[in-house]
Amino acid sequence: MNDAKEEIKSRLSIEDVVGRYVELKRAGRNLKGHSPWGVDKTPSFMVSPEKGIWHDFSANKGGDIFTFVMEVEGISFKEAMEKLAAEAGVDLSKYRGGDPNVTKRKVRAKEALVLATRFYQACLARNREVCEYVFYKRNLNRNTVKEFKIGYSPASGKALYDALKKRGFTDQELKDAGLLNQYGKDMFRDRMMIPFIDTTGNIIGFTARIVGKGEPKYLNTQDTILFNKSRFIFGLSNAKEAIRHSGFVVIVEGNMDVISSHQAGVKEAVATSGTAMTEQQLKALSNLTSDIRLAYDGDEAGVKATERAIMIAGDLGIDLTVISNYHGAKDPDELIQKDPTLWQNAVEERVPAVDWLLSKYEENLNLRLAPDKKKYSDIALKLLSYIKDEIERATYEEKVAKKLGVEVTILREKGKRLDDKLNQTTKYLKKPKTTVVPDYIKKLEDSLLALKLFGGITKIKIPLDVPEDETRISELELIFNASHENVKSPNYEQEAADLMARYNAEIRKDRIKELNEKLAGLDDSSDEYLKVLQEITDLQKSSN
Ligand code: UTP
Ligand code: MN
Repeated sequence: MNDAKEEIKSRLSIEDVVGRYVELKRAGRNLKGHSPWGVDKTPSFMVSPEKGIWHDFSANKGGDIFTFVMEVEGISFKEAMEKLAAEAGVDLSKYRGGDPNVTKRKVRAKEALVLATRFYQACLARNREVCEYVFYKRNLNRNTVKEFKIGYSPASGKALYDALKKRGFTDQELKDAGLLNQYGKDMFRDRMMIPFIDTTGNIIGFTARIVGKGEPKYLNTQDTILFNKSRFIFGLSNAKEAIRHSGFVVIVEGNMDVISSHQAGVKEAVATSGTAMTEQQLKALSNLTSDIRLAYDGDEAGVKATERAIMIAGDLGIDLTVISNYHGAKDPDELIQKDPTLWQNAVEERVPAVDWLLSKYEENLNLRLAPDKKKYSDIALKLLSYIKDEIERATYEEKVAKKLGVEVTILREKGKRLDDKLNQTTKYLKKPKTTVVPDYIKKLEDSLLALKLFGGITKIKIPLDVPEDETRISELELIFNASHENVKSPNYEQEAADLMARYNAEIRKDRIKELNEKLAGLDDSSDEYLKVLQEITDLQKSSN
């Protein structure tokens, strides 16, 4: 990998790479410009062509071309390598120390997804009814449909399978791409197809909406060797130019909100499709801009999602704002259908996320009544506990105290009491958890994850999250290769089924043990005791 890095560096000049994002002027031996993170008044961004490095004095970061592209695009090191390698005309596969087999599988999966996208696009063009849905019901125009590569998956159940088979793809390759279901047929049927496109332009999966009513509304590609849902940000490939240009990003809930928003001219919209926001996603976006605006639905789920975002943002030192004036529409798409200019204006009207949540909490309460004051202070204090900065927190404490009509010292006292209580309960809860996951369970998990990642398992559900960490993935690859070295014709599905059965049994056993320990410490006349006992009994029943 290091050789590849050097080769790329020797072929690309740092002025060219950086110059695409920052206007650089000569200043002696160095070059100077404005910070691409938009926090300086005078040029504070320096490039040394001789040394091949950059430094941003206002944002206080620096590095080489790789770290620059990572930071400015909000992408991983690997993605930055791939991007720059492509620009430099360096063939990375020659340098990869890793399994060339896996690299090849990824390439084939990507090829399958490109062809699948084209196939779906052609199917859309041929289907009047679905065109009606896409163009009239969803109100998308030709440009948008083209830009987002929207298509349609036929209902037959093997149309894509047959087409790709004809093009020489194997079942395994189609599984790797996430295009087959557990029966080996087309994963997606009779749905509007929207590809997941990563920031380097690769198609890595799909989200598929039912045309009309039905369940589930959306079907998404599961994690594959290409697609990782906790990292992926829908629409970012189309949005990053605009985000860089206008200096803000709008996070919406639905993928269709993203598409509508782009069509309405607000091209800074992205979504965390099908998952609650993760730390990786927020980090990636905060590398692009510090102005992050949430535009979730105003319902309870939207409140929960905003709370979650604040918890993550607090740890990362990021401020969030909320766009909330939807003029009665339930989501941005609905507002845009009313009138695109309403949405264009809405994204400019924003309030700090904490203020927004505080007023949401107030909505169903009557703050003249003592019990409601208690409720309000409970949730408000919990929210404020996530604010790291002392000044900011103090300001909100005063605001909340004023709202309640009490001295701020009383509010702080209560805050402290809740904190202590929380610490106690977490201490209590943490205790049994410190008994680390037993080795044999960890081993089973490793084998299962290795199979999930590299065995192309589709029939057996493996309910473990695929890790993000490169080193960990390499470790699993090693495990996978080592454990199949001497196996002539491996049956990964069977292996996964056997492992899952053992895994479930072990987990059950472990849980029963844990619950028995808990039982020992409980008063046998308490409700809790009965609950725990019931759980043990149920677990024992299901293991027979
Ligand atoms: P919504 O149901 O709010 O999406 O779910 P939407 O964009 O308003 O849907 P339309 O307008 O009816 O088409 C928000 C997001 O949650 C995920 C999807 O990523 C969706 O964009 N989701 C929703 C699923 O993954 N599966 C589902 O069944 C529903
Ligand atoms: Mn919608």
